[in-house]
Amino acid sequence: MLENSDRFPMRELKLYDNDGDRQGILGEALEILLKEQAPDLKFSYTTDPEEAFSDVDFVMAHIRVGKYEMREQDEKIPLKYGVVGQETCGPGGIAYGMRSINGMLEIIDYMEKYSPDAWMLNYSNPAAIVAEATRVLRPDSKVLNICDMPVGTLRRMSQIVGTTPDKLEVSYFGLNHFGWWTSVKDKATGYEYINEIKEYVAENGYLTQVEVDTQHMDESWQATHKKAKDLLAIEPNYLPNTYLKYYFYPDYEVAGSNPEFTRANEVMAGREKQVFTAARNIIEKGTAVDGGFHIDSHASFIVDLARAIAFNAKERMLLIVENNGAIANFDDDAMVEVPCIVGSDGPEPLAQGKIPAFNRALMLQQVTAEKLVVEAYIEGSYQKLWQALSLSKIVPSAEVAKQLLDDLIEANKGYWPELK
Ligand code: NAD
Ligand code: G6P
Ligand code: MN
Repeated sequence: MLENSDRFPMRELKLYDNDGDRQGILGEALEILLKEQAPDLKFSYTTDPEEAFSDVDFVMAHIRVGKYEMREQDEKIPLKYGVVGQETCGPGGIAYGMRSINGMLEIIDYMEKYSPDAWMLNYSNPAAIVAEATRVLRPDSKVLNICDMPVGTLRRMSQIVGTTPDKLEVSYFGLNHFGWWTSVKDKATGYEYINEIKEYVAENGYLTQVEVDTQHMDESWQATHKKAKDLLAIEPNYLPNTYLKYYFYPDYEVAGSNPEFTRANEVMAGREKQVFTAARNIIEKGTAVDGGFHIDSHASFIVDLARAIAFNAKERMLLIVENNGAIANFDDDAMVEVPCIVGSDGPEPLAQGKIPAFNRALMLQQVTAEKLVVEAYIEGSYQKLWQALSLSKIVPSAEVAKQLLDDLIEANKGYWPELK
């Protein structure tokens, strides 16, 4: 946000977390950094909701209910049964969804109590389930759900054709972490790049040689970018979201997973360690000069979104919104990911027309599983969560779904509502 302060000037910045110890380290380091780099910006960090949520215009929400400890469980429990273990897809995503709903409702209610005019820009995961839960349980709340995967992949597409993302305009349909690009055009000339990009992706996936993507660079991510090649092979009409690999190639994914060391472990040993080491160094030295905090370009889309609302910028962005006809032959009440024009009143979804039966059937199966999770949460229904797990394309049978469910209930005690 500092990097973008010319486009999006800030008066005050407050951090909120419900874990004071974890927050304190980053808070203390940021206090030092901001004194040096933005002395006029009022900064504070707190675990007190009233203090945090009072007098704010935007709540940029990115909470991880259960933290990495529970992400590790989400990934490792399915793998015990030979099933994909992933943060947002399949059983791991469903387990995480059941945890996140409570945390999200809590912060939405704080925002509405203390700053009723504010907007929440949410990218807490699993965004699809969180979005469905807010649609059902807080239908009038000003919450926008957004994902950075299409942003990151568009950056790679722009590298493939030798341009920059801001010069491109896309059409896209799907659900969060479950969709396809139907067009990637030059904004100024209308030139359609999709065939050139497809040719490249058919060979290399989205793997490019340019090192500007700070968010998706680890080894496991490189494999993910590459695998897009096989996603294009199964559906050659459109360019795939990388997350489809968990649904189309789960056997490949499980074969390549180490059940003792999953992505949560990779993150804890990598990003998490780097960030906290950098913070501790800043605190120790009392200065952030050469302190090891770097701008992460992936976050700039949150500024784009905030700007679009604050300045009625009519920015075209992909958001997770209620369908209501945007995809003509898909359920009105499904939370879909489509391009929207964003201004002060929020997003206006753009019509994407009708979609083919293949994609539609896959999406319907997935969105129904997501809806069942939310119903299971609301009703405390074991049966519905079992159905949700059985419906997930990643889970091989109702029997495995039931075993998984029983293990996940045990692991998520204290986080999930009680299921009957
Ligand atoms: P992180 O684990 O580094 O930090 C999350 C923080 O949330 C922790 O400090 C934790 O204490 C706090 N927290 C947990 N429950 C809370 C609650 N109920 N109230 C307040 N704070 C709470 O996580 P991160 O890497 O910054 O990611 C945060 C979230 O953003 C995750 O859900 C992640 O999946 C998601 N994410 C989404 C996208 C996207 O495309 N939508 C991209 C990146 C990250
Ligand atoms: C992408 C997705 C996010 C997800 C993240 C995981 O950016 O869009 O929804 O949270 O990847 O990244 P990580 O590095 O934590 O595995
Ligand atoms: Mn995402």
